[in-house]
Amino acid sequence: MLGMKKSIFRRLILSYMFTIVLGIGIVGILMFYFGNNYIYSAKQEELLRQSRTVNSNIQDTRWINEEKQEILEFLNQTFGSQIWIFNEKGEIIATSTQDEVSIGKSVAVSIVEKTLQGENVVSRLKFEGLSEPMLSVVVPWGKQDNVYGGIVLHSPLRGLNDIVGKIRETILWATLFGILFSTAMVSYHSWTISRPLQKIDRATSRMAMGDFRERIEIKSEDEIGDLANTINMMAEKLEKIEVERHRLDNIRSDFLANISHELRTPLTTMQGFLEALQDGLIEDEGRKRYYDVMYDETIHMNRLVDDLLDLIKLENNEITLSKYHVDTKSILEKQKFKFEREAAEKGVALTLTLGESLPNAYTDPVRFEQIINNILKNAVKFTETGEISITAEKDGPFLLLVITDTGIGISEVDQEFIWERFYKVDRGRSKQNKGTGLGLAIVKKLVELHDGKITVQSQIGQGTTFKIWMPSEEKLK
Ligand SMILES: Nc1ncnc2c1ncn2[C@@H]1O[C@H](COP(=O)(O)OP(=O)(O)OP(=O)(O)O)[C@@H](O)[C@H]1O
Ligand SMILES: [Mg+2]
Repeated sequence: MLGMKKSIFRRLILSYMFTIVLGIGIVGILMFYFGNNYIYSAKQEELLRQSRTVNSNIQDTRWINEEKQEILEFLNQTFGSQIWIFNEKGEIIATSTQDEVSIGKSVAVSIVEKTLQGENVVSRLKFEGLSEPMLSVVVPWGKQDNVYGGIVLHSPLRGLNDIVGKIRETILWATLFGILFSTAMVSYHSWTISRPLQKIDRATSRMAMGDFRERIEIKSEDEIGDLANTINMMAEKLEKIEVERHRLDNIRSDFLANISHELRTPLTTMQGFLEALQDGLIEDEGRKRYYDVMYDETIHMNRLVDDLLDLIKLENNEITLSKYHVDTKSILEKQKFKFEREAAEKGVALTLTLGESLPNAYTDPVRFEQIINNILKNAVKFTETGEISITAEKDGPFLLLVITDTGIGISEVDQEFIWERFYKVDRGRSKQNKGTGLGLAIVKKLVELHDGKITVQSQIGQGTTFKIWMPSEEKLK
C-alpha cells in the first residue's frame, strides 16, 4: 500500500514539477532574452538620439572652443552620458568631463573608418580610459557631406545589468515558488487520493481475512467514493452469506447430534436386552417381553428413519404432491378408527363431527392422512382424561379441521417452538413420550406445501386445539 502511495506521490510530483519548471523556464528564457534586448536597444536608441543632439550643438565648426566645451559639459550632466569628440584621425580632442587622460588618445581605426563613412557604431566594450564597461555609441560629427570626426557617448552598463539581474532574480524566485507551491498541491492531492485508498486497503484486507463486518466510510462523490460504495455493498452481501453459512452449519451439526441421540437410545436398549438374552439369564416366559420391547424399538427406529427422510425431502423441496379430490369423510373415519381403541384404553373419548355439505379435500391423500395421523397421535399421547374431538367443516375455499383435546396443554412459550424439528416440551419429565419431536415439523411443512395453514391454541392443564385449513378446491392458476 505504502508503495502505491509513494508511487502516486512520486508520479504526481514529478509531472507537476516538470510542467512548472518547463513552463516557467521557457517563459523565463523568453522574457530574459526579449527583455534584455529591449532594454539594451532602448538605451542604444536613447544614446543615438542624445549623440545627434550633441552633434547638432557642435556641428558648425571643426574645433571645440570653450563655449562648446561648456555645452558638452552641460549635455553630459543633462543626459548622464560621458561625451568624447575625436577628429578624422581618431584622436580624442575633447571630453565632456575634462578627462585629461583620454585627450590625445585614439579611437580604434575600424570605428573611425565607419564613422567617417557616415555610419553609427555601437559597442559594449570597455574603452581604454574608462573605469567600467560602458554601452557606447559613435555617430559622425559634422554635417552630412562634411564629417569632421566622431562623437562618442558612453553610458555605464552597470544600471542596465542591474535591471537584467533583477529580471533573472524574479524568474528564479517565480520558479522556486512554483516548485514549492506545486509540491504543496501534490502533497494535498496525493493525500486526498491516498488516504481513502488506505482506508479501502485496510477494509479489504480485513475482508480478505474473513471479517465482513468492516465498512469503508468515504463520503466523497468521486470514483473513489463509488469504489468504496461498491466494496461496502459487496461486504454486505458477503456478510449475509457468511451469516447464512454459519446458520446452516449450526443447523447441520444440531441435526446430526439429534439424530445420533435419537438412534442411540433405542440401540442402547436393544443392546442391553440382547446381552441379557445372550447370557441366558432370562427365563422362558420373560423372553417374549424382551422380544416385544426390542421389536417396538425397531419399529420406533424405522419410523424415525422414515420421518427423517420425509423431513429432509420436505426441506429440500423434493416431495411432489399427487393432489386430487379426496373424500374427507372416509379419511377422517379411518383415522378415528385407528386411534379409537388406544384412546378408549386410556378412558378418553374420541368423537368426530362432520359439518353439512362437507367438501372434498383437494390434497395428496397419503400426506393428508399423515397430517391427521400426527396430530391425533399427539392428542392421544398427551391426553389422560376427557375427550378428543375432531370436527370438519367448510371454510371458504378450505376444509377446516379442528382437533381438540383435554390433555396436558402447551405453554405459550413452547407453542412457538413445537414446529421445530426435534423439539419436545419438557424433555426430562416426559419419559413416556417416546417421540422424536419430528411429527409437528413434518405436519407444518406438509400443510404449507398444500398452501394450507395450521395454528395451535392451548392452555397448560386445559388442553390443546389444532386448526388445519386444507384446500378443498383446485386452485385456478
Ligand atoms: N396435543 C398436544 N398436547 C400437549 N403437547 C403437545 C401436543 N402436541 C404436541 N405437543 C408437544 O409438542 C412436542 C412436539 O410434537 P411433535 O409431534 O413434533 O413431537 P413428538 O410427538 O414428541 O414426537 P414424534 O411426533 O416425532 O413422535 C411434543 O413433544 C409435545 O411436547
Ligand atoms: Mg408427535
